[in-house]
Amino acid sequence: MSKGSSDILKASEIIKRGGVVAFPTETVYGLGANALDPIAVAKIFALKERPSFDPLIVHICSFDQISLVADEISPLVKELTDKFWPGPLTIVLPKKSIVPDIVTSGLPTVGVRMPDNSIALELIKECGTPLAAPSANKFGNLSPVKASHVKKQLPDVDFVLDGGKTKGGIESTIVSVKGNICTLLRPGLITLEDIERVMPQKFIFANDKPEEIIAPGLLKSHYSPTKPLYITDLSKIVFPENSGVIVHSKREDLNVKKIICTSADCTLTEVAANLFSAMHTMEEDDDISQIYIESVAEKGLGIAIMDRVKKAAYRYTKSL
Ligand code: TXA
Ligand code: MG
Repeated sequence: MSKGSSDILKASEIIKRGGVVAFPTETVYGLGANALDPIAVAKIFALKERPSFDPLIVHICSFDQISLVADEISPLVKELTDKFWPGPLTIVLPKKSIVPDIVTSGLPTVGVRMPDNSIALELIKECGTPLAAPSANKFGNLSPVKASHVKKQLPDVDFVLDGGKTKGGIESTIVSVKGNICTLLRPGLITLEDIERVMPQKFIFANDKPEEIIAPGLLKSHYSPTKPLYITDLSKIVFPENSGVIVHSKREDLNVKKIICTSADCTLTEVAANLFSAMHTMEEDDDISQIYIESVAEKGLGIAIMDRVKKAAYRYTKSL
């Protein structure tokens, strides 16, 4: 048996005994427990220090499992899953009663997704149960894209399945589907354009109805590094000492302590893939006291990238 599969077996044993395991997905690392076991799920909330009003996504490994946890699997849902699963699309649907209230924070709906990562899929299969899993970070802090990021924030987690750096780098897109209307709840790796290509006419954008949607993806401050982060137009800044700068295309003209380039030419899939890891590297560097980051245009995947960047910087914006 390969090391990979023996680790998956070990992780599944822990989960079957009611424990919590961090595992890679194609977006970010998740902190998983048996979605049908409320006591195991409570451990996720405790480890993450996550408020109980914040529902978890349920991860499945085959389309058939969706009907175990959710109702109203309409032709529209089928269209979406045929096109985007396995992949970074979470679909919010009416929940089945088998899903404990703690998973959905008492909501009548449940978010479901099938991750496009072989370790995650094998783990769910081996566990024989869907896994409830939020991102494997402390609530409000940077999302983890490497096993080391999980261990830094959650040293008490029972086991971290190491699948290397995740390929997508930011979280899934979340949509709710009611009748034939699909509503965007959180921008993510799958863009509005990707969805509209499959379903013209049937799409609306829930921009500011947070009172209806309990999704901390909609909180203004989230995903934050422990050091000040400022969004900046690089040309206008005199950088203080010990500044780190995150740019999205090659730059050699900046006189700062550290520069991280997420992409040589602002390719948005590369920017997304490297965004949180760049912020982690700056956070971990003792020589860096504050971080500056460039914007990207808010189009296509740029919408989800700037959603994360603005929320990461929000708590520091007033002091700029
Ligand atoms: O890519 C991802 O989605 C990652 C990986 C691990 O799958 N997970 C993730 O989970 O980002 P988390 O917990 O960090 O964010 C999940 C978001 C939360 O903002 C939560 O409020 C929303 O999903 N959510 C979950 N169930 C919901 C529901 N029934 N209605 C509305 N929003 C929901
Ligand atoms: Mg999260």
